[in-house]
Amino acid sequence: MVGVFLNFFYWLCSICSTNSLEMEREEPTPSAEDPTYRASSSSTSPSAGDYEGGTKKTKGDNYEVFLSFRGKDTRKGFTDHLYTSLVNAGIHVFRDDNELRVGEEIGPELLCSITQSKISIPIISENYSSSKWCLRELTQMLKCRKSGGQIVLPIFYKVEPSQVRHLTGRLGNAINAHRRKLDENVVKEWEEALKEVSSLKGWESKKIDNGHEAALVKIVVGKVMSELNRNFQLTLPKELVGVDDRVEEIMSLIDAKFTNTAIIGICGMGGIGKTTLAKVLYNNLSSHFEHRSFLTDIRETCARKGIECLQNQLIRDILGSSI
Ligand SMILES: *[C@@H]1O[C@H](CO)[C@@H](O)[C@H](O)[C@H]1NC(C)=O
Ligand SMILES: *[C@@H]1O[C@H](CO)[C@@H](O)[C@H](O)[C@H]1NC(C)=O
Repeated sequence: MVGVFLNFFYWLCSICSTNSLEMEREEPTPSAEDPTYRASSSSTSPSAGDYEGGTKKTKGDNYEVFLSFRGKDTRKGFTDHLYTSLVNAGIHVFRDDNELRVGEEIGPELLCSITQSKISIPIISENYSSSKWCLRELTQMLKCRKSGGQIVLPIFYKVEPSQVRHLTGRLGNAINAHRRKLDENVVKEWEEALKEVSSLKGWESKKIDNGHEAALVKIVVGKVMSELNRNFQLTLPKELVGVDDRVEEIMSLIDAKFTNTAIIGICGMGGIGKTTLAKVLYNNLSSHFEHRSFLTDIRETCARKGIECLQNQLIRDILGSSI
């Protein structure tokens, strides 16, 4: 995928440099004589504010994904693999190891981590319901789903959704044990939450690639990436006129798996919308790539801030860290 990404990057570069070259030829400015001045701009030139998604905000507690799991079942196994893969993909993940939590209520910090997350993933294993904390988290996630549109993607880890729905086996025994000790309404709420989550679209670990967990991890990371991809979209004017035909034409030239398409160059006079076209294509294609970067104003930025600035942006975008 990195190879594909690089190709994609080249194509974007080629658009940018074509743009600059064209502009230079058509709109010479007095300062073009200055050897260090090799950039140009136009009204369609993208500005720094165009790019919203490439640099992930990883400061503070802005979690993108919340993982809820039963520590003793999956802490060192599946959850660890999933967590590591998500983090490696540059996603900001909160993994709550709730085994040591005390108290009866979800504290403000944990509540905040759940509420802020765009996606929550309850990993429901056979002992999930024996933990009050897991059930509290689950209830909270489903509340956020209703009120804030949080995406809840359950993983049924070595259990079937029907077991969760009908509370059979250990899942049910644990709920019965809670009922003996706790307020009836609280337990009822938990039961409802388990029933609700069992009907959501998620994954059954046993059914994915015959239970090979690496395959499941990969699928989940892919899904999370594509759900978060909204953030990788470049901003464009709402009403774009006359772009569709060109987008379709170019899309028809790109092979579906990007194996043969390495570079797309867009040439033309300045101001006819090459950059806009590139952005539309980028938005359309970006979900197919694990890593992506949109570098604009190459010449101008090089001249003003040096090439390192662009190199840093590229590395940040694709690796999620800077050098
Ligand atoms: C659930 O808990 C029981 C009892 O502690 C344990 O034997 C079992 O292995 C646990 N299940 C999983 C999936 O780890
Ligand atoms: C991408 O382009 C294809 C072909 O033109 C079109 O069918 C599809 O709806 C576009 N997708 C997005 C997300 O713009």
